[in-house]
Amino acid sequence: MAVPHPLRDTARVLVDGHPMRTIWPGDDGRTVDVIDQTKLPHALEVARLATVEDAARAIEEMVVRGAPLIGATAAFGLALGLFADPSDAGLDAARTRLAETRPTAVNLMWALDEVTHAVAVLPESRRADAAWARARRICDDDVVVCSSIGDHGLAVIEEIWEHKGRRGAVNILTHCNAGWLATVDWGTATAPIYKAHAAGIPLHVWVDETRPRNQGASLTAWELGHNEVPYSVIVDNAGGHLMQTGVVDVCVVGSDRTTATGDVANKIGTYLKALAAHDNGVPFYVALPSPSIDWTIRDGLADIPIEERSPAEVTHIAGREAGGSIVEVRLTPDGAGATNYGFDVTPARLVTGLITERGVCAASEEGLRSLFPDSI
Ligand code: MRU
Repeated sequence: MAVPHPLRDTARVLVDGHPMRTIWPGDDGRTVDVIDQTKLPHALEVARLATVEDAARAIEEMVVRGAPLIGATAAFGLALGLFADPSDAGLDAARTRLAETRPTAVNLMWALDEVTHAVAVLPESRRADAAWARARRICDDDVVVCSSIGDHGLAVIEEIWEHKGRRGAVNILTHCNAGWLATVDWGTATAPIYKAHAAGIPLHVWVDETRPRNQGASLTAWELGHNEVPYSVIVDNAGGHLMQTGVVDVCVVGSDRTTATGDVANKIGTYLKALAAHDNGVPFYVALPSPSIDWTIRDGLADIPIEERSPAEVTHIAGREAGGSIVEVRLTPDGAGATNYGFDVTPARLVTGLITERGVCAASEEGLRSLFPDSI
């Protein structure tokens, strides 16, 4: 039996009709290429990372973003740092620089730990190659894991479609971009969507614009469009109304960090969607790979660090002019103060289920333990 090759057999998400990952090692084996997400949706450009500083800045400036992709980039970043300095001091310095980039997505620390454990016991001469190999495997594993999330989430969507008497489209609301662009391939929240679309289930996705950086309007819309999944971009405040009027069958979002008890940190605004879903009896699922689970914490509100980003992301907005130039304009009065929290915490009680690579479980310690008995 042929061994499945992760790139050939599971790469699914298409750009201009071709499968493509969001991150890949350069041919020279000493650089890493990523899609520059700050340029989307207006241009598909590749950024080359050659140093640990390049990788750290790519994460900070959101050239790459989304919890699993942040982890994958950090893993390669550590390898790039070790090519330059494989000593213990070099390892510590690279790790410290990468760890300080963004605080909320726990995949970052998970990936740094994975690579560190793989190399710390090795002689300096072998560290960089071992780190590189581990980073490549983190990417390949992410593809397989997200594909599995897609399979389990497909069953959820199938059940909803059956419940609707297989009539009309299944209307799915998603927030931010927990898509292909947030992972190496497939996405987490979008993996079930791509699998259901491929299985012939009629779908329509409500895409929250996701202020202030508009990951929904810019990124989710772009990737769904390339994969011919019908969608409508909505303003962030529309979700409640849509749920009240019965045109949302299910919400599926991603997670940057899930506690051992099932609380979920995700892009700011997720909590409000969960509240509206709860009030209207709309199922609210969170799709996540196990490296997004922080097994060391139990109380999301108390224990998950919430990133605060520059007020300029709130006071200004960028877009493409009719002539094609990208311009940034001010939205607020000169001198207006602004606060920019990147994430919020949705308590487990508002989550219908967690869709993981091992199956769907309740958002609770018992639920997580049933799927990951070795981790709790
Ligand atoms: O600030 P971002 O764009 O990195 O935030 C991304 C999200 O909130 C995603 O929903 C989350 O990382 C899950 S990605 C599969």
